[in-house]
Amino acid sequence: MKRIYIETYGCQMNVSDTEVIFSILAEDGFQRTENMEEADVILANTCSVRDNAEQRIWGRIEQFNQQKKKRGDVIVGIVGCMAERLKDKLLDTKKVDLVAGPDSYRHLPGMLAAVTPDSPQIDVLLSRDETYADITPVRTDRNGVSAFISIMRGCNNVCSYCVVPYTRGAERSRDAHSIVREACDVFRRGYKEVTLLGQNVDSYLWKSDTETVDFADLLDRVAAISPLLRVRFATSHPKDISDKLIETMASRPNICRHIHLPVQSGSSRMLEKMRRKYSREWYLERVAKIRSVMPDCGLTTDVIAGFCSETEEDHRETLSLMEEVGFDWAFMFQYSERPGTLAARNYPDDVPPEVKTRRLNEIIALQNRKGLESYRRDIGKRLTVLVEGPSRRNPDDLCGRASNNKMCVFPAGGHRVGDYVDVLVESCTSATLICSLA
Ligand code: SAH
Ligand code: SF4
Ligand code: F3S
Repeated sequence: MKRIYIETYGCQMNVSDTEVIFSILAEDGFQRTENMEEADVILANTCSVRDNAEQRIWGRIEQFNQQKKKRGDVIVGIVGCMAERLKDKLLDTKKVDLVAGPDSYRHLPGMLAAVTPDSPQIDVLLSRDETYADITPVRTDRNGVSAFISIMRGCNNVCSYCVVPYTRGAERSRDAHSIVREACDVFRRGYKEVTLLGQNVDSYLWKSDTETVDFADLLDRVAAISPLLRVRFATSHPKDISDKLIETMASRPNICRHIHLPVQSGSSRMLEKMRRKYSREWYLERVAKIRSVMPDCGLTTDVIAGFCSETEEDHRETLSLMEEVGFDWAFMFQYSERPGTLAARNYPDDVPPEVKTRRLNEIIALQNRKGLESYRRDIGKRLTVLVEGPSRRNPDDLCGRASNNKMCVFPAGGHRVGDYVDVLVESCTSATLICSLA
């Protein structure tokens, strides 16, 4: 029996892909291990979205090679986005035996069988139709409460800064029935929450001879499985998030009141240059619509500081948009030029690093303040939390998320993982609601 160890980097799509890889390799007789030291095969499922993501993985490749030196017959493989972006450049290092892109995972058993020290294996062909729809992922979450379900792959947007369309290929939507089947299956096995994943879920569209299913329809079908199954999704694109989707959310209490809506910049000039296909005004209008229909809806975002030619004025527009919206939480990044993207080919990366850092720090400081304000507004509210596990700080407490995606900590009081618990918010930090049992 061969043992396989996988490290996962990057977004939730990669977490979901790792589960697909485990499933494909389990069929082939591999056994999963969480201990690299005893693995026959070491894989890293990688991310290329920013340079620092790749740098981290180069460091890991060195570590994996220590294992090779120590134990001889270990296979080291790089899969996922960095495999797709760098292709045979990874083999040129002589430190990697296998390179597989995101659409090649069905070939992994054959590739692993064929690897020898003199014949490394590579497959980085992208596909127009691969969705791994028929593969039942081996769940790698630790709590058995919340499962990721991939509903589409690839991306057809060409945001000028972004490498994802090149590493993941064209957008394709997975068979709606296979998604609903998978959600039913995890619910039967005791899971209480599913998160539907795609780079741009609002453009999900699946057609058969008899039906056409868009994202709002799909969400409705998954939510109809049971009122006790919570449904989340990510990521929404501001240009595509529809009134129909917002109304579908509002009509089903078990569709969680949270939208991750990456804004990237508050300056319409920057948004145009980023090719996001919406303006500041459009974004603010979408937020107003969401809040008019669901006043309690959590909103989170992604922001990029220091994109090509960004001026102080553009930067101030990002700050003012964040001030106006008041996100609960944000992922905030400095712009990192990615080779081959439209921005890398057409615009100089001309904001000096120290200016990027200063702007990012201003964005982070503002978000910390706005996040805390948003958490404070929940003090005194009664919320329903799905228990995920013991609190990290105090093992006598439990933690779990409210519908709005905020993390809550509260006394265990005999409740268990997977229970729905009503709590009362007593106080907060900028990332946790501290609650009593209601
Ligand atoms: N599909 C999602 C995002 C995928 S990448 C969307 O459209 O919003 C996740 C986040 O990484 C992006 O939202 C963006 O904020 C950030 N990102 C992508 N490329 C980047 C780059 N070159 N430099 C810095 N941040 C980047
Ligand atoms: Fe990248 Fe834009 Fe696609 Fe998101 S929508 S993955 S940012 S190209
Ligand atoms: Fe990274 Fe690929 Fe996801 S580049 S963010 S792992 S789609």
